[in-house]
Amino acid sequence: MIELGVNIDHVATLREARKGNAPDVLEAARACERAGAHQITVHLRQDRRHIQDRDVETLAEVLDVRLNLEMAAVDAIAAIAKRIKPHTVCLVPENRQEITTEGGLDVAGDQDRLADVVAGFRAEDIRVSMFIDPERAQVDASAAINADYVELHTGAYANAAGDAAAREIERLSAAAAHAIDCGLGFHAGHGLTVRNLRPVARIRGLQEVNIGHDIIARALFIGLENAVKGILDVLGECSR
Ligand code: PXP
Repeated sequence: MIELGVNIDHVATLREARKGNAPDVLEAARACERAGAHQITVHLRQDRRHIQDRDVETLAEVLDVRLNLEMAAVDAIAAIAKRIKPHTVCLVPENRQEITTEGGLDVAGDQDRLADVVAGFRAEDIRVSMFIDPERAQVDASAAINADYVELHTGAYANAAGDAAAREIERLSAAAAHAIDCGLGFHAGHGLTVRNLRPVARIRGLQEVNIGHDIIARALFIGLENAVKGILDVLGECSR
């Protein structure tokens, strides 16, 4: 079965709009667990625009499922991660002005520094995923620095249509096959929806997807548990 990490950052975005307690991030995580999600994913950004340190602390303490912490590879956030000890950290690029994570991390261009960051997490028994564009050089660099997994950026696929989308699936498939040959786990995420997920979910070797925006957006109309179950149904169908 392909596993589902639900990114609940948007629940915190709504809460931060009023700087109060609602909607409750932990309650959202519990609803995802009840619906069968395998993991909760949150991004502790340097600007703290949505998820706050206390959210990560609470989730790490009380979740029954795994916690995946997305983060920039910077010392201040790494220190928090090492204290809180999520199951996995997913290293992502982070630009302060961006609306969401825009491209993959340039692992090949920052290999020596990132090798130290990965070693620091592995020494603390925290698994490390690299959020990269589906490019062979980025996969090679991720393997060379001993990452556990690559999360292939599916944003270009999500933004494409017709033949261009088919080409993106080919790029993702080639990068995934190479990652598996290199001994890396293969995850995927960004821009995935209940409608566009199937071709990605059918790529050989996929272990996990992380989905946020589509689930939270649909939750407004059908409820969070139903939105999570809708994605799990597609994953189940494609895992067969
Ligand atoms: N995976 C990573 C590494 C991300 O940065 C994000 C966005 O925070 C997601 C998955 C989820 O993307 P979306 O919200 O478009 O489903």
